[in-house]
Parts: sequence; structure tokens; C-alpha cells
Amino acid sequence: MTIPAQRNVAEPDKLIETLVSLAKRRGFIFPSSEIYGGINAIYDFGPLGVALKHNIRNLWWRQMVELRHDIVGLESSIIMAPRVWEASGHVAGFTDPLVECKNCHQRFREDHLEGVCPNCGHREFSESRQFNLMFKTFLGPVEDSAAQVFLRPETAQGMFVQFQNVLNSTRKRIPFGIAQQGRSFRNEISPGNYIFRLREFEQQEMEFFVKPGTDDEWLDYWKQARLDWYLALGVRPQKLRLRAHGPDELAHYAKAAFDVEYEFPFGWQELEGIANRTDFDLRQHSEYSGKDLSYFDEETKERYLPYVIEPAMGVDRCLFTLMIDAYDEEEVRGETRVVLRFHPSVAPIQVAVLPLSKNEKLLPASREVEELLRPHFRIEYDETQSIGRRYRRHDEIGTPFAVTVDFDSLEDQAVTIRERDSMEQVRVAIAELVPALTEKFRAASGT
Ligand code: GAP
Repeated sequence: MTIPAQRNVAEPDKLIETLVSLAKRRGFIFPSSEIYGGINAIYDFGPLGVALKHNIRNLWWRQMVELRHDIVGLESSIIMAPRVWEASGHVAGFTDPLVECKNCHQRFREDHLEGVCPNCGHREFSESRQFNLMFKTFLGPVEDSAAQVFLRPETAQGMFVQFQNVLNSTRKRIPFGIAQQGRSFRNEISPGNYIFRLREFEQQEMEFFVKPGTDDEWLDYWKQARLDWYLALGVRPQKLRLRAHGPDELAHYAKAAFDVEYEFPFGWQELEGIANRTDFDLRQHSEYSGKDLSYFDEETKERYLPYVIEPAMGVDRCLFTLMIDAYDEEEVRGETRVVLRFHPSVAPIQVAVLPLSKNEKLLPASREVEELLRPHFRIEYDETQSIGRRYRRHDEIGTPFAVTVDFDSLEDQAVTIRERDSMEQVRVAIAELVPALTEKFRAASGT
């Protein structure tokens, strides 16, 4: 399967609009609580979206935890002791500048405005004030400030706060990492661009603890490793780049940082951040908790606070990127064919099993093929509509292969494999189907 590097989109300006419609129509993404009018910057993932998300998460976890001897997993809570967020700097500093339009009273992020109210066109705004992005709630039945807690705005702090427990229970030696995935929440002032900036989203982050002095080297290592991960998922190289943060944009905790950026239809934007957080977090938590979070190096007999290199990615943003990057349109016999050219490892469905028609004679053999393939691939069995329409549907949801059972199959015990990208068809004996498809996946994945 050769995936063309160049994608064709009839109306590039409308790509996001087109994807929003495809995502809803085909069951990738739905507006949350839609029957009640929706809720701003919060989305639900339908059957195909959840499969895609699951695949992204699993590939990340496999790469970052299961295939490595030096990284372990953690699942920390969403609600943590409020002191965590004082120590991390989020209570004082996790803010964006907020202004209010003096005419329509809508509120905006000052640094996203170009002098004009996007709602009513007015040019006068209130004084800017700092707005904290953490969602607040109360723990227990009393709603006073002593009971106030936060929904985590990043998963990272769980890994710093549990550093000693992980170290003691696993006996890992530095350098080693702790990885976790889970929901984060930010009360963004101006969310937008569909699922690019959400108020409830999912992160996969890894804190890699290293000896001070080796941190620059490890930052280089992780920024390349993370860029390579997106390339291995088939994201087009010309749409990806690494960008160093300038001194004025570095987060308060960072000595250096890079973004993996993707060229979205609305410009180059962050897909993932890779930061050298120094010993900032462990130092702060040692000080605020009064617990020593230093590390004793048995070999050199030195005690120190490790430095941390952190690759932090957003699962929803990665999903959005993969959908944008995969979207393609081409003319086939005078009709537009829409194809999501997903890499086979992330495609929500890997093989569609399609009887040529609903004719009863074909159904038992088709069900047998389905049962044969299901343990090996992500399968969908589909017998509704004409075969042409079913091929189109599977092209549009990115299914790399379709297996068609026809009347000849009943005689020759063979089926047709159709490739999504080339639309080529080959005849394969049912007895050879699993190895034949496995080989096609291997070739298409570049592994
Ligand atoms: N622990 C560091 C940290 O959270 P970040 O750059 O703020 O760094 C990391 O977030 C990644 O999480 C981003 O690159 C992005 O993919 C994702 N992310 C952050 N805020 C998001 C939001 N409001 N909606 C969707 N994804 C978001």
C-alpha cells in the first residue's frame, strides 16, 4: 500500500467543517449533551472515535512503557490535595489574561484578540485581569474555601507526588521514567478549533528522571524519539516540525522546551510539548510537603534532586491531527472518493468483511470469514447497502482492507482482498487469508 504524501482536498479552507460533518455522520465525534444544545468545548467520542483513541493510547503506552525497561506506569487521582497545586505554581500562575467587551459583555482571552470584539465588533474592553484556568469543586458536604479542591489541569503532578513511592516499590535507578494517561481539565477562556482546545481532554505524559548535568542530552533524545513516533504513525513529515521555545515563552518551571508542531489548517500549532522541567517540581513538593524527595545514588554515593524531561501529549489533539492528516479526496470514475488514509495500526477498523450481497447463500460463508479474522484484526461485518457504497463507507472511515465473499467463494473457497489506497483487488484462498492479511499489514505499516 503506497500512501501518497500529498493529500487532495477540494476546499482546504473548509477542511475542518468537512471533518466535523464526517466525524459526526460516521460516529467518530459527537458534541457532548447534544440533545440539550451541547456544552462548549466538550465532546463525546462515538464508536469509531473511541476505537481510534484507544489505538492511539495503546500505541503510546506500548512504546513508552511496555517496550522499555526504564519506564513504569502510574494512575494517580484527578482530585489531589490542594497543596499540590500551590506547590506546582498552578494556584498562583496557571492563568490567562481575561478582558470583557464593554458593549456585549462577552469575555475573551486578551492575547487572542486583535483589538476588535469577535462577537460584536466593538473596540473597547475592560482592564485585563488574570483568570485561573483550574476548575474548582468541593470535597465533602461543606462548600467553603477549606473544602475547595481542583480538577487536575495536567497529569504530571501525580507522578512527582508519587516519586518516592514508585522509587521504593520498583527499586528503579536513575535514569528512569513514570508514565500516565488520563483526563485533565482546563477552563479555557477561548477554546476552539473544534477539538483542538478543549475544556475536558486527555493527556499522556511521561516524567523522565535524570541526573543533573545529563538533562540536555536526554532532552535531545526525547524530542527526537517523540517526533519519530508521529512519523511512525504515518503523519506526513512535511507537516511536522520541532520548534524550540524562545526565552519569553518558557513555562515557569522549564529550562528549555520544544514543541512537536503540526501544520493544522489554521497554522502551525503545538501537538506535544517536550520540556526540561529541571528539579523544579521535586524541589517544590519537598518544600511544601516537608518530605525529602531526593535520590541517593548507590554507585557514586551522591544525593541529589533529579532533573526531569517531560514529553506531554494530548490524545484528543493527536486524534484530530491524525484525522486531518489522513483526509484525502480523489476523482474515481467521475465521482469524488473520500478516503481517510489512516495508518493500519491506528485505523478504527482494520478489515471489513463484506458479503457481495445480502443473498442468503453468501451469509454463512461470510460469517465464517468474520469469525476466522476477528481474533487477529479489528473487524467489522457489514451486509447492508450495495457493495460499492460499502467500499465508499469503509474508505471514508479509513479501513485499510476489505474482504469480499462472493458466489465464486462458495465454489473455490477463496475471497477478494481490496486495498483502500490503491483499490486493487487480489484473490486469496480462505485458508491463506490470515497470513496474507498479516503480510499486507506488515508491508503497509513499514515494519
Ligand atoms: N505537563 C505539561 C503540560 O501539560 P501542555 O503543553 O500544557 O503541557 C501538553 O500540555 C499537551 O496536552 C499539549 O501539547 C496538547 O496536546 C494537550 N493539551 C493541552 N491543553 C489542551 C486543551 N485545552 N485541549 C486539548 N489538548 C490540550
